[in-house]
Amino acid sequence: MTKLSLRHYWHPLATSNEVSEAPARFFMLGEQLVAYRWGDEVRIFKDLCIHRGAAFTAGGTVRDGNIVCPYHGWAYDGSGACVHIPSLQPGQPIPEKARATAYQAREAYGLVWVCLAAPAMPFPVWPDDAWNRDDYRVVFVKAYDWKASAGRVVENAMDMSHFNFVHTGYTELADGPVIKPYEVTRTERGLNYAYDDGHLLRDYVVEFPFLVHDRKSVVNAAGGKTWSDGDNAKSGDVTLLSFLAAPIDEVRTRIYVFVGRNHSLDREDSAFTAGFDIVMEQDQRIVETQRPEQIPTAISEELHLRFPDAGAVQYRRMLRDLDKAEAFVP
Ligand code: FES
Ligand code: CO
Repeated sequence: MTKLSLRHYWHPLATSNEVSEAPARFFMLGEQLVAYRWGDEVRIFKDLCIHRGAAFTAGGTVRDGNIVCPYHGWAYDGSGACVHIPSLQPGQPIPEKARATAYQAREAYGLVWVCLAAPAMPFPVWPDDAWNRDDYRVVFVKAYDWKASAGRVVENAMDMSHFNFVHTGYTELADGPVIKPYEVTRTERGLNYAYDDGHLLRDYVVEFPFLVHDRKSVVNAAGGKTWSDGDNAKSGDVTLLSFLAAPIDEVRTRIYVFVGRNHSLDREDSAFTAGFDIVMEQDQRIVETQRPEQIPTAISEELHLRFPDAGAVQYRRMLRDLDKAEAFVP
């Protein structure tokens, strides 16, 4: 039995095209990893050889799919078992302890994902099954690197009460800064709440711990316009902004941003991706200043307002519960 932790969740490690046949170095939850492709598989290991602690990425190679340490040539298979030690005399057995730490890897949504321990939750899914539907199109916008914790990044993505201050002229609430009561629901995978500003219904789907989808549907085309709407927004149009935050370490986060839509499919994608650099920069400037860097999970810390912060309060409770939870780990 061991503590359940962020290691038990799937996190995006890289875009698919950042992982090649050549072993390369990545970071997740403060740990240095090596990843490479072998046939249809992506193999991910802790970037550390048990022999003398060298990093595989210090010049290691791949032979028959095995990662070969650059220091003394020990080779490890996909399960992490050492299968070759060049310095052993013939007949001498490979010590059982000679193992690399292999992690679970998956490829989906144009990303390579890693889970550093037994998964506590099923693999992430997209709202509306948007990737698999003909009437939808999802495009990757960009990965943004922020000097902030993933928790702060997620709370920012969940928060609509900063729009009329930070994103003036971009994504303001159509009916102004006053936040009306709304209901937050805990779901199997995280949180869900919706907010209607008279123009857009923003449906927030949070997959715990660090994935946020902001599903914006037009409820009243005459009610206003935000930067990511099409020119001829009509009722029922859905624009899906997805922020997948990867916890590189405690104070660095990489945010993979996607935009999906079920409208204007004949228009250039750039019409929908172009504004992100500005909007993300507006957020980054603020979020990187937040202290402490880790969000306090004790609800008594910082100051929550009942309605704007209802989603954040639930989110903090989930993070706090994670600290207490235990799980069986094979
Ligand atoms: Fe890796 Fe010696 S440190 S083989
Ligand atoms: Co913002």
